[in-house]
Amino acid sequence: MHQIGRITMSFRDQSDAADFAGLDLPGRLVAARRILAAAALAAAGGVALGGLDPLVAVAGFALVTAAAALPGRRRLGPAAILRPPAPNGRLQNGRARDERVQDDRLGHLVAALPEPAMLVDRRARVLAANSRVEVAIGPARIGEPLTLTLRVPEVLEAVRAVAGGAAARRVEFQARIPVDRWYEAHVAPVRFSAEEAAAPGLPDVVLVLLRDLTQQRRLEQMRADFVANASHELRTPLASLSGFIETIQGPARNDTAARERFLVIMAEQAKRMSRLIDDLLSLSRIELNLHIRPDTRVDLVHVLREVMDALAPLALDRGIELRLAEQAAALPVQGDRDELIRVFENLVENALKYGGSERGVDVVCAEAAREDGSREAVVSVIDYGPGIAPEHLPRLTERFYRVDVPRSREQGGTGLGLAIVKHIVNRHRGRLSIASEAGKGTIFAVRMGLAQVLPESEKIDRSMS
Ligand SMILES: Nc1ncnc2c1ncn2[C@@H]1O[C@H](COP(=O)(O)OP(=O)(O)OP(=O)(O)O)[C@@H](O)[C@H]1O
Ligand SMILES: [Mg+2]
Repeated sequence: MHQIGRITMSFRDQSDAADFAGLDLPGRLVAARRILAAAALAAAGGVALGGLDPLVAVAGFALVTAAAALPGRRRLGPAAILRPPAPNGRLQNGRARDERVQDDRLGHLVAALPEPAMLVDRRARVLAANSRVEVAIGPARIGEPLTLTLRVPEVLEAVRAVAGGAAARRVEFQARIPVDRWYEAHVAPVRFSAEEAAAPGLPDVVLVLLRDLTQQRRLEQMRADFVANASHELRTPLASLSGFIETIQGPARNDTAARERFLVIMAEQAKRMSRLIDDLLSLSRIELNLHIRPDTRVDLVHVLREVMDALAPLALDRGIELRLAEQAAALPVQGDRDELIRVFENLVENALKYGGSERGVDVVCAEAAREDGSREAVVSVIDYGPGIAPEHLPRLTERFYRVDVPRSREQGGTGLGLAIVKHIVNRHRGRLSIASEAGKGTIFAVRMGLAQVLPESEKIDRSMS
C-alpha cells in the first residue's frame, strides 16, 4: 500500500506567511479543504484523512494553505508537501526532526488563528498561545500549566479527557473579570501523524480555541427581560388609552367637554409610552456596549454645569435650591459625554423629585486618592429628604424597581433611571454607591478613574465641542 508518512507544513518564505495571515477564516477553510482533497488524490492508495473537524483541519493544515490557496504565485504543490517517509524515520531531505522548528511552527500556526487559541501538551502545559488569549482571559505563559491561565474546571476536564484520547468537545463558561463575559471553548486533539505518536491513540497536542459568546448572551438576556418588563409597563397606559377611546366612541360621544379632558389624559399616556420605549432602547444600547469602554476625554465639571443648567427650571418649579460645589478645577475622565450627562441628570432629577426639601440639593465634585495611589473623580448628589429604607437599597438599580410605585408614576417616572445610571457607570468602569438614612436624606456617589493628564498642548476638551 502506498503510504504517506508525513505531512510537512511550511511556508516557503515570509511573504507566504504574510499572505496566509491575510486570509479570513472561510478562506482558510476553503484552502484547508483544497489541500485535504489534494492530499487524498496524491495518496491514491488509500490514506484516511477524513473525520477531521473543520477547525482542527484548519489548525492542522493552516500552514500548508498559503502554498495551495493563493493564486498568481508559484506555489509548492501538494506533492511537494506530502513526502513519503524515509526508512530511518527522518524527513526525506535528511533533516532530523527538529523540536525547535516544530515549536516555532506551532507558534506561527496559533498566531494566525482569528480567535483566542492555545496548544497544550498532553500534560496540559502551554506550548503556544496567540495574543488574543491575553486580551480574553489573561496572559498564557509558554511551558506553564494551563491552569495558571484558565481556571475553569469544565475546560480543564475537557483538556484532560481529550489529551487522554477522547474526541473533540465544546464547553461553555463564564469569566467574571472585569465584566461578565461568556466563552465557548473548543477543545480538540491534534495528531501530526499516526506512526509518530508516542502513545498510539493519543493526540500529539491539544488545541484550545475560545469563542466569545458575550454579545450573543446579552442579546438573549435583553430580549427576555424586554418582553417581561416592557409588556407589563406598557399595559397600564395602553389600557387607559383603550378605555378612553371606548368612552369617547360611546357614552361621551356628544360630550365635548369630557372629550377634551380625556384627550389631554390620552396625550399624557401616549407620551409616557414613548418615554418608556426611549428609555428601554437606550438601556439596550448601553448594555450591548457594556464591555466597550468609551475612549473620549470628558471634563466632569463641565458635564455637571450643563446638568445644573438643564435642571434649574425643575428646581425652580419645585422651589428647591440646587447647588453645585466645584472642589476641583477640572475632572477629566475617559467617557461618553452624552451618557455621563444622562447619569447626573437622572441622579439630580431623582433628588429633586423624591428627596426635595427646604434644605435644597447639593452636588459636590472633587478629586480623591484611591487605595492603589491612583486618582479618581467623585461626584456626590446629596439630598435631605425622607431617605430610602435599607431593604430597598440593593434593588434600586434594577429595571422598573421603584420604592413608591404610584409616586414615581405620578412624577412621570419609568423606573428605568437608576438602571440606566448603573449600566453607564459600569461601562465607564466606575462605581455607584448609595447611602441613605431614614429622615435625613440620601447620597448617590459616582466614582471614576481620572484620565491621564495630557500636556497642555494636546488637551482636547470635548465637553466644549
Ligand atoms: N434621592 C432619592 N430619594 C428617595 N428615593 C429615591 C431617590 N432616588 C430614587 N429614589 C427611588 O428609587 C426609585 C427608582 O428610581 P429611578 O430613577 O430608577 O426611577 P424613576 O425616577 O421612578 O423613573 P425615571 O428615572 O425613569 O424617570 C424611584 O422610583 C424612587 O422611589
Ligand atoms: Mg429617575
